[in-house]
Amino acid sequence: MHFCPVRLVEQPALYDNKPALRVAGLRKRYGPLEVLKGVSLTARRGDVIAILGSSGSGKSTLLRCLNLLERPSDGHIWLGDTEIGHSTGLSDRRKIEALRARMGMVFQTFNLWPHKTVLENIVEAPVHVRRLTRSDASQKAKDLLCKVGLFDKQDAFPTHLSGGQQQRVAIARALAMEPEILLFDEPTSALDPELVGEVLKVMRELAEEGRTMLIVTHELNFARQVSSHTMFLHHGRVEEHGNTRELFASPSSPRFRDFLSAQAGGGAR
Ligand SMILES: Nc1ncnc2c1ncn2[C@@H]1O[C@H](COP(=O)(O)OP(=O)(O)OP(=O)(O)O)[C@@H](O)[C@H]1O
Ligand SMILES: [Mg+2]
Repeated sequence: MHFCPVRLVEQPALYDNKPALRVAGLRKRYGPLEVLKGVSLTARRGDVIAILGSSGSGKSTLLRCLNLLERPSDGHIWLGDTEIGHSTGLSDRRKIEALRARMGMVFQTFNLWPHKTVLENIVEAPVHVRRLTRSDASQKAKDLLCKVGLFDKQDAFPTHLSGGQQQRVAIARALAMEPEILLFDEPTSALDPELVGEVLKVMRELAEEGRTMLIVTHELNFARQVSSHTMFLHHGRVEEHGNTRELFASPSSPRFRDFLSAQAGGGAR
């Protein structure tokens, strides 16, 4: 029987209204196909922004541009005061690594290293990128595993965990870098329905702590309850955005209204 040591994991700065991330006129083309057609958004510290939209509307591309997995065709991105837009040469590995370390990305498919234990998965980046000692990084990783309810799984390999557990490890791994902002791309859509709740619970707690989060999701009830702001993308454009409560109560865009009713009809949680 393992017991979680009671230790407080560092908390991020709570709502102080400073912009954590700003995007202005972001465009992305793949050959003749323009996938993002001038997307702008501001995430202030503590904001939780739900990004909604039909399949192919550009949600993943947006997150991938923010995290420098894709090079934007045009536009500007600032992370805090640092501009990271298209001017960042993707060849400058160290610069990209440093910027990526400031954003935690959680993918639909977890992306854990299968040959490493849960603990090793979490410790790796803080040691290599943040230059923490292995002992400090392990201590921190254990605290984070407590936070996501997986302290007793630290020596397990990812394949021996359920999808929900793997995703919680992936969240702990993202948190280990102490990111300024967390980006989630449909973190629950690869999970069996009975495992979705445990991941959403962790995300809800992160939101309540005041973490800045951008969440692409099809979990409409979750988005409605947890996000402070919502952005609806349609064909690479921001069709509607604003305060979540107001937007869901009275959507002005007919397309967003249709999207909400289609999702509700489709059994969205
Ligand atoms: N590497 C690529 N090369 C060419 N086209 C791409 C590439 N990546 C994405 N696209 C296209 O860009 C458009 C937007 O894709 P994206 O994955 O951002 O959509 P999405 O909103 O995340 O959709 P989903 O809800 O299905 O995940 C799609 O038409 C897609 O086919
Ligand atoms: Mg996607």
